[in-house]
Amino acid sequence: MATNRTFTMIKPDAVANGHIGNILAMITNGGFKIVSLKLTQLTVADAKAFYAVHAERPFYGELVEFMSRGPIVAAILEKDNAVEDFRTLIGATNPAEAAEGTIRKAYATSIGENAVHGSDSDENAAIEGAFHFAGREQF
Ligand code: RTP
Ligand code: MG
Repeated sequence: MATNRTFTMIKPDAVANGHIGNILAMITNGGFKIVSLKLTQLTVADAKAFYAVHAERPFYGELVEFMSRGPIVAAILEKDNAVEDFRTLIGATNPAEAAEGTIRKAYATSIGENAVHGSDSDENAAIEGAFHFAGREQF
């Protein structure tokens, strides 16, 4: 498995607020190459499956409703040390704690509606990328 790839989604809040272009610019300016990209929408079942790891958390229902309520952008990104560097670029889950210059500092509105997803491990990057792009040429 490649260790130089990560997976991201621009979440429904950021898409609805017109931030796709600015967020993709921050991603490419951050040194990431976009190797797969699509505008899509998660069904409730998709969102439940994607965030199944959080099924027991109190915010799970809200998270599933949010992630399925409108279009998202899904992308596979390539860069040395992609997973860790992308987590740095997106910033803390809670925008109140996100560093200056991060995507969440710029575009997240709350801990729940926080503009972008970033994979948290190489293993999950591969699983999440396959979830959205399996069976298709990725570049
Ligand atoms: P993500 O998976 O989306 O990249 O976010 P993350 O790693 O920074 O945070 P994680 O703990 O994996 O949580 C997943 C998403 O659930 C929502 N959340 N809401 N209301 C809350 O307290 C709360 N906590 C988390 C956020 O959308 C978070 O990104
Ligand atoms: Mg996470």
